[in-house]
Amino acid sequence: MKAVVWQGVGDIRLEDVAEPRIEQPTDAIVKLTASAICGTDLHMVRGTMSGMRPGTILGHEGVGVVEEVGSAVRNLKQGDRVLIPSTIACGYCSYCRAGYYAQCDNANPNGIQAGTCFFGGPEKSGPVHGLQAEKARIPFAGVGLVKLSDEVSDEQALLVSDIFPTGYMGAELAEIKPGNTVAVFGCGPVGQFAIASAKLFQAGRIFAVDNIPSRLEAAREQGAETIDFSKEDPVAMIRELTGGIGCDRAIDAVGVDAEAPHGGPGMKEAKEHEEDFRQELSQVAPQTNARGENWHPGDAPSMALIWGVEALAKAGTFSIIGVYPESATLFPIGMAMNKNLTIKMGNCNHRKYIPLLLDMVRSGTVDPLKVLTKRERLTSAIDAYRAFDLRQPGWLKVELQPTEMVH
Ligand SMILES: NC(=O)c1ccc[n+]([C@@H]2O[C@H](COP(=O)([O-])OP(=O)(O)OC[C@H]3O[C@@H](n4cnc5c(N)ncnc54)[C@H](O)[C@@H]3O)[C@@H](O)[C@H]2O)c1
Ligand SMILES: [Zn+2]
Ligand SMILES: [Zn+2]
Repeated sequence: MKAVVWQGVGDIRLEDVAEPRIEQPTDAIVKLTASAICGTDLHMVRGTMSGMRPGTILGHEGVGVVEEVGSAVRNLKQGDRVLIPSTIACGYCSYCRAGYYAQCDNANPNGIQAGTCFFGGPEKSGPVHGLQAEKARIPFAGVGLVKLSDEVSDEQALLVSDIFPTGYMGAELAEIKPGNTVAVFGCGPVGQFAIASAKLFQAGRIFAVDNIPSRLEAAREQGAETIDFSKEDPVAMIRELTGGIGCDRAIDAVGVDAEAPHGGPGMKEAKEHEEDFRQELSQVAPQTNARGENWHPGDAPSMALIWGVEALAKAGTFSIIGVYPESATLFPIGMAMNKNLTIKMGNCNHRKYIPLLLDMVRSGTVDPLKVLTKRERLTSAIDAYRAFDLRQPGWLKVELQPTEMVH
């Protein structure tokens, strides 16, 4: 079967690989009908999330049809349409039972301290082959896989596999109360769902910060007040728009590939951190392999963290859902401490939110398809990755369709 395979930093390939087989009684094999590219995949290709094992199939967002189930999978059968949550969890450890599926004790074969187990990630996350493929092996399938009703399409469900739950958890961790002002840093697909979710939590005002016009435009469409950090200093602007107070809540939907402004008044402060950023970058991305225009890591790993802390009002809450690898150690702790901030963060506990969010999609409360802007064949995945990496206009979120599904 065809799959997108990570072979090295800056080196991903469409390859013919062996089909997955049932390995554990709790496994299922799912034939994918839709998969997607995520900003997290970019970290792995750019080298800012290191520790990948060559030969790993990428991808952690998917929808498909159950082809086969192991003997311990009692709730699913061949032919069921299912959504695959990005993270893998056992469902019976104390963490899973408390809703912390991303901190499951049993899913990660590297042990209970190894952290989140997810599809298509670094060695330390499993590794478990990912979903940018025609078929995938799903561990703990009876717990993870969520059956889809006919009322929810594959494409709608695809966005509930990772990015809607992540944006929703971002808004939940931000402790948004009705009427609060919320700043969302990053208007990529995750940021767009953080904005949509902040609305669900009845935020009074939402500021959206990015430097990509098409993404800011999508945020404005949702009713957010946009700030282009290449033209304005985002911290100064958030303060100005809030009578000098700052925002009650901030959400980092950028992560380790953050960029510093290359123009505008925000450049001055970024310049002061230039040396720190350089050091952080060598720490998080010991190996990079930019090829032409592609696979360049961001140049300011902690930029969104700094802005978030600065833009927050005293005693505000910072929610961090952008991904940072363990090797990232810089955070403006002193400023955060002296402002009495609350800081919450983490990998998404996908399985906890998926039923609720699917119901919101089914009822029309949220239309996730506004974020899905490109539909490509799995066989064109490498070109799609390149365009998404460059954040080209219109490449907000990319679906990958396994070849034989395309007519
Ligand atoms: N916590 C989780 O479980 C989880 C799940 C999914 C994705 N993520 C992470 O969320 C982040 C966003 O994912 P995505 O798919 O939207 O990625 P993306 O790369 O498409 O979007 C990131 C956006 O941030 C913008 N940006 C860069 N520097 C910025 C800055 N200094 N200030 C404001 N915006 C800036 C970029 O222009 C881009 O639009 C990534 O780090 C991804 O790994 C986390
Ligand atoms: Zn993701
Ligand atoms: Zn568990």
